Amino acid sequence: MKDKDKDHDTELDRQKLIKMAMAEIDHAYAPYSGFYVAAAVLMNNGRVYTGVNIENASYPATVCAERNGIFKAISEDKRAKIAAIAIVGGKDGKITDYCAPCGVCRQVMREFSEPSSMKIIMAKDVDDYREMTLAELLPYSFGPDALK
Ligand code: THU
Repeated sequence: MKDKDKDHDTELDRQKLIKMAMAEIDHAYAPYSGFYVAAAVLMNNGRVYTGVNIENASYPATVCAERNGIFKAISEDKRAKIAAIAIVGGKDGKITDYCAPCGVCRQVMREFSEPSSMKIIMAKDVDDYREMTLAELLPYSFGPDALK
């Protein structure tokens, strides 16, 4: 078994995850909305992947920070599940409020996590955040099991 496939201790360091998201916010490409978002995705093998929102002149082609982070993670760690995600966002990159994930991102999280244990950390700062599970943010959800 390769080291990257082992289950690491995913003891959740919330401050570290929030810091990693905050460090990326300036990389967001948001010339149309001016709303910058960054996310740090902790997988159950201990790896962390970050993502930012990337907008497009054809507006619907925009992809949220959360999905960019999750798709990076799944591309690299196909069998891993999401343990937690930290999200920060704000107009012009200034974080003044808690940024909740959009509905599409919640559904993408549903595909690659255990909803009752996956944690969504919406942060204003390293020591100022709200935390909810995916099951709380996406109740009575549709997931892979439905298609078995
Ligand atoms: N956005 C995210 O990146 N994540 C969210 O959960 C909410 C919205 C982005 C998409 C778009 O670039 C901008 O914020 C305004 O909607």
